[in-house]
Formats: sequence, structure tokens, C-alpha cells
Amino acid sequence: MTVDTDRLLPPAPVTSLADHLDAGGGEALARAQELGSDAICDLLEEAGLRGRGGAGFPTARKWRGVAATARDGGGSVTLVANAAEGEPGTYKDRTLIEQQPYAFLEGVCIALEATGAVTAHIGIKEKFTVPLARLTTALTEIREAGWAHADRIEVVTGPDAYLFGEESAMLEVIEGNLPMPRIVKPFEAGLAASTTTASPTVVNNVETLAHVTAILAYGAEWFRQAGTEDSPGTMLFTVVGDVASPGVYELALGTSLRTLLTDVAGAEDVKAVYSGVSNAVITEAMLDTPLCFDRMREAGSGLGSGGFVVYDRSRSIVDVLRVLVHFLAVESCGQCNACKLGNSAMADLLAKVQRGEAEQTDLEALLRWTHTVTDQNRCYLPVGSQIMVGSTVEAFVDEFVATVQAGEPTPADLPTPLVEHIDDDTGEVTYHERYHLKQLDWSYSDEEPGALRLEAIRDPETPHPQ
Ligand SMILES: Cc1cc2nc3c(=O)[nH]c(=O)nc-3n(C[C@H](O)[C@H](O)[C@H](O)COP(=O)(O)O)c2cc1C
Ligand code: SF4
Repeated sequence: MTVDTDRLLPPAPVTSLADHLDAGGGEALARAQELGSDAICDLLEEAGLRGRGGAGFPTARKWRGVAATARDGGGSVTLVANAAEGEPGTYKDRTLIEQQPYAFLEGVCIALEATGAVTAHIGIKEKFTVPLARLTTALTEIREAGWAHADRIEVVTGPDAYLFGEESAMLEVIEGNLPMPRIVKPFEAGLAASTTTASPTVVNNVETLAHVTAILAYGAEWFRQAGTEDSPGTMLFTVVGDVASPGVYELALGTSLRTLLTDVAGAEDVKAVYSGVSNAVITEAMLDTPLCFDRMREAGSGLGSGGFVVYDRSRSIVDVLRVLVHFLAVESCGQCNACKLGNSAMADLLAKVQRGEAEQTDLEALLRWTHTVTDQNRCYLPVGSQIMVGSTVEAFVDEFVATVQAGEPTPADLPTPLVEHIDDDTGEVTYHERYHLKQLDWSYSDEEPGALRLEAIRDPETPHPQ
């Protein structure tokens, strides 16, 4: 078992800039300034760094693209560091920020140098109070120390919504709006874009930027000592659910999924695993797949942002899928009718199956919705439900049919696997405690109707609030 924990995650949290400098911090940024934009991108290309936010997109290609758009008269580049971490089963970005915020911030400074971006915005949820405090303290320290570009970085807090992490929706939040995805991608029309200026924005995940720092510090060859040809380096993996040792682990890419789940996290009797909510279900038969972007895709699923939710054989697959699809139905923003309607309909149908009230035709209807839920989609969210529902029903069709035929309620006791906290010492995982109260319009059912002013609806004479 190769457990490589010393690249991004330090043996003990780095709590001051002085400690970071003692361990060689700051050298990566100094090297980046010597190299300049093109040579930094060459180095990242040589290292083969791929984004850790979900799609595995090559970082150098992304950076070169926005720089070229700006050069061709597209206006100025801006940078966004994505610390929203809203994917179910993921906790690695918060762990990284809490344990080593300086390496991440150094990566932001290097990205500013390489892309020529005028500003960097770090988008993080307001509710992530501990990492937020670590981040703002560390940012103050590097500003006071006069780090290059540090005075052009700002932290933007955002809402507790899945879509806050979708890159174009994050731009909306930075501009003061709700997290509603845009039709146009950030590299085509970024922050403060106009009809005549693209102002491209590059969006990168927290972990991606921390790898940038390590590559500048130690080189491309060192980076490639871990990982595979197509997926070099290490990655931070979160494992939660039915495992003995949930947590965040740094492993070389190419390690088998079985090693991560069973040897490291202590999973037994695996029934179904989900790498977030955008990929097909992973079954026992797929556990020997190497943790690489392409091999996971070829095996029929995906690596996502490295967060795995494990369900063992004691779980009802109907409950598993019901919880995940309900999450997507709630989080869908409703700009595209097929997405909100389709996800809500699928969530309702799965709840009907769980209550033991469904018929065979309900299963057929569920599968029919997977064909239309993505119609005219602005963002990738409904592709997740399409893939998850289709793959899960196919893999566990006998259990779905047997549940419908039995006509009896099955368990409904699983939490939505949105990780709030993983205790380092005990390994105890806390999930979002209020998620079951979140409604399709993003309000919480135990909140005062407040803005709705129900009495005003009933009595038109009631004066409007000022
Ligand atoms: C619905 C949705 C939610 C997302 N949430 C996150 C998130 O919480 N954090 C993140 O880094 N990327 C998230 N992404 C991916 C981002 O849109 C973007 O691709 C990523 O931040 C790019 O970073 P990278 O190139 O460094 O991987 C999400 C995408 C979608 C469609
Ligand atoms: S696809 Fe769904 S989540 Fe994405 S913008 Fe459209 S309605 Fe919103």
C-alpha cells in the first residue's frame, strides 16, 4: 500500500507564515516570478497537472486559453479559486485550507503571475467558519509580508448551495447575485464581461492550486514520480459512509479504488459507491479500477473531485438513490424547466418506491425522465441524475423490481452525504444536520415564512413591508 501523505497534507497543520517559510514556502512563487507566464505553463504541462475540481481538465491549457483571449483584445483576465466544496462526500478542500492555507495561497499568487489576472477571488461558503478564519488570517499574513500579488486577492463568501461551486454560478455570486449558472462559460465571458469584452475568468479548484505550488517548488519530474502517465501526481481523496475509518487521504493517482476503500478506509461488504453526484454508480466488480481520470471513465464511472460515499450490503439501494436524487432536485435552480421538473419527478417516484406504493410503470416513468431531464441544460447538474439513475437502476434492477412487487415500505434512514466535519481524532463524520428541511425553493421548512408575508396574500389590505 502506497500512502503518500507528505505532498499537500503536512504531518501537522501549518499555523503560521513563519512555519511555512521554514519549510521552504515562498520559493515556488519566487521561481514563478523568475520564469514568467509561458515557462510556468510549460512546467505545468510537463508535469501533466489536471484540475482536481471534478473534470480533470489540464491546468496549463486552461491558463494559456484565457491569456490568449485577453491578448486577442478580450480585456483583462480575472481568477477565481473555487473553495465552495459542495459535492456530497467531499471534505478535502476544507482540510487543505485548515492544514496548509499558505501553499494554496501561494498557488493563487503563482496563478496571478502566470495568467496576468488583475484580481483573484476566493469563493468559499460563509458557513465554513473554521477554514474561512484560517484563510483570512493567512491572507493577512502574506499581504503584510509583501508577497507578490497578495494585495489583489479577495475572499468572497457565498451561500450554502451546491450550485455555488459551479463555475459560472460562482461568478454570479461574486457579482452579488444568486448562484444561477450562466449559458456562457467563464473563459468566454468572465467577471464584468460586456457585449464587447470577454474579460475571461479562469476558475480553479483549491487543491489544483496547491499542486501548482508544489510543482513550482520541486519540478515536473518530481511531480510525476507519483501517479500515472495520464494522471500524474497525488490526489486528496475523501471517503465517508459505511467504512471503519472515514477521512481525507492523500494517495498517488493510479492506486486502486479497492486499496483506498478497503485497505485505507476499512470498507467491507461494499454494495454501491458514488464519487459525488455526477458519475455512474460503482459496484463491487469495479473496485480494482485504478484511481485515474481516464481509467475511471473507461470503467463507466468517474473520479469526480475524489470524494467517495460508500454503502454496504445492509443498505437499501432505493433509499441510497432517493437521497441522492432528492439532493439534485432541491439544488437544481429551475432556470431550465426539464431539470427542475425532471429531478423533482424522479425524487417523487423514488420516494413512492420506498413507501411501497409504486407499480412497475413508475419504474418505467423513472427511466423515461432520465432521457429528458437534461433538455436544454445550462449546466452539468442534471447530467448527474441522468447518469446516476440510469446506472443504479441497471446495476440493481432486481432489487428495484422486488421492492415494487413486495409493495412494502423499505428503510428511509440515510442522511444526505453532505460532509460538515470529519473529526481527525475519532474519525466521526457529521453530515449537514438540517438538509432534510431544505425545500425545492431553497428555503428551510422550519424557518418563518418571513418574506412571503402569508397574511398579505390572504388580506390584500395588509400594508407591504417597506
Ligand atoms: C453543479 C456543480 C457543482 C460544482 N461544485 C464544485 C465545487 O464545489 N468545487 C469545485 O472546485 N468545483 C466544482 N465544480 C466544478 C467547477 O465548475 C469547475 O469545473 C472547477 O472548479 C474547475 O477547477 P479545476 O480546473 O481546478 O478542476 C462544480 C460543477 C458543477 C456542475
Ligand atoms: S441545468 Fe438545472 S441546475 Fe443547471 S442551470 Fe439549468 S435548472 Fe439550473
